[in-house]
Amino acid sequence: MAVTASDLAALRAILGPQGLIEDPERRRAAGTDWLGEYGGLPAAVLAPATVEEVSRALAYASAHALAVVPQGGNTGLAGGSVPEGDELVLSLGRMRAVRRLDAQAGVVVAEAGIVLSELERVAGEAGWRVPVDLAARDSAQLGGVLATNAGGVRYLRDGPLHGSVLGLEVVLADGTVLDGLSVLPKNNTGYHLKNLFLGSEGTLGVITAASLALRPADRVRATALLSLADLEGAATVVTRARRDLGALLAAAELMEDGAMRAVLRHVPDTRLPVAQAPAYLLLEAASAAPSDPAVRERLLAVAEGAMGAGLAVDAVLAGSEGEARALWRLREMALEGAQRAGSRHMYDVSLPAADFGPFVRHLRGELGERLPGWDVLVYGHAGDGNLHLNAVRAEGAAPAGEEDGWRRLDEAVYGVVAAHAGSISAEHGIGRAKRDYLGLSRTPAEIALMWRIKRALDPTGCLNPGKVLP
Ligand code: FAD
Ligand code: LAC
Ligand code: ZN
Repeated sequence: MAVTASDLAALRAILGPQGLIEDPERRRAAGTDWLGEYGGLPAAVLAPATVEEVSRALAYASAHALAVVPQGGNTGLAGGSVPEGDELVLSLGRMRAVRRLDAQAGVVVAEAGIVLSELERVAGEAGWRVPVDLAARDSAQLGGVLATNAGGVRYLRDGPLHGSVLGLEVVLADGTVLDGLSVLPKNNTGYHLKNLFLGSEGTLGVITAASLALRPADRVRATALLSLADLEGAATVVTRARRDLGALLAAAELMEDGAMRAVLRHVPDTRLPVAQAPAYLLLEAASAAPSDPAVRERLLAVAEGAMGAGLAVDAVLAGSEGEARALWRLREMALEGAQRAGSRHMYDVSLPAADFGPFVRHLRGELGERLPGWDVLVYGHAGDGNLHLNAVRAEGAAPAGEEDGWRRLDEAVYGVVAAHAGSISAEHGIGRAKRDYLGLSRTPAEIALMWRIKRALDPTGCLNPGKVLP
């Protein structure tokens, strides 16, 4: 239903003047996604300051059949964080308190709107580390990270969020507040409701706070960048690193040379400190034990082993924090480099790491036949079997398909993903971008059950309509 002046007046009465944003500039910003691919102009941005305000605003919206799009830092890459028309946006940005930090137990309870890097800073000051991290850390919010079930650059080490989130506070569409902020490490009492909301992308409830199990902060760290002889070798080097470093292995991140070239060309203050090669692997080893001397030597041994086996052709070990940051910057700017190289459309696929080489070759063959002039910049989380593919077009190549937008490209990419038994999303989620392809990775019975859950929790369909479910 269209939002009326009387709806806005009612919502202003619930949220106060600061809690209802009508300024066109701020509405436009909230209505455009990070990739600049999806969006609409929201009727208003709701900015509640408390869980009670979220509850009352949602109760009003569902009673009046108004659509609401929950939004955190708006860095999502599946088009899920923005309206398609003039729906309301519900921003969590004013709810950013750390409600509790137990420095003894290593548990934090924080509100959804806290920016990830701020949560990392607070945890770090207490000697702890947040068990999820990603390049958008200065904008992405805790609630958005949980609602997308984000993977990021520490997934290999810290595992899925389901193991780190001890509890959630969630407001359902009708305004019901689920207070599930347990801080207990073990709590096996009935259905694990929190898991329903991790990765629900704003379609089942609004996450307003979370309790997280932290990890001891690292005290020693070593970072290396390897030039790989080919993309195929990445999986083997990662397996060797896993075996040789055990729990010390803290990251394994991948870039093909094309993605690296885009960063070097378009991102200021970047330099490749190793020989140019078909692909690059960033490896990090870290330990919370005070001055663990083995970390550096053992990472060096992995790099030397990879070179000895012909899997790597060059390698560098960072000699300082600054050098380590510079290596990370090459990888973390991959998306921006691709964007500045003109990419507006991307994929986030999951497949066994051993298939990376054959998959990319197969995909390039398919693009060459079906969409000549198109290529992909390839990078991702090598340790997790997760590749990102940013579509790029050679100068002068035909557009993806004027009549059907990106669909022809999507079909080519997802056809190859299916042929390699992969998934259409490893970590970014479904949102709007992959909604119509959900059936490629989920069975009809699974999708029907998702709809039953959606209808049970949000019977009027006011939460993020048109996202996730086809
Ligand atoms: P938003 O973009 O605002 O929202 C994302 C989705 O969550 C939307 O569907 C929205 O409706 C919903 N949502 C947001 N907040 C709430 C809430 N409180 N309650 C309920 N629903 C909510 N992702 C990865 O997984 N791994 C990466 O390594 C990674 N790296 C990135 C690097 C860059 C440079 C960028 C721009 C993005 C990256 N992303 C990555 C994608 C994105 O940062 C993550 O998905 C992030 O978790 C989104 O957080 P956000 O606060 O920006 O959420
Ligand atoms: C990354 C984002 C795009 O891994 O997920 O860089
Ligand atoms: Zn990623």
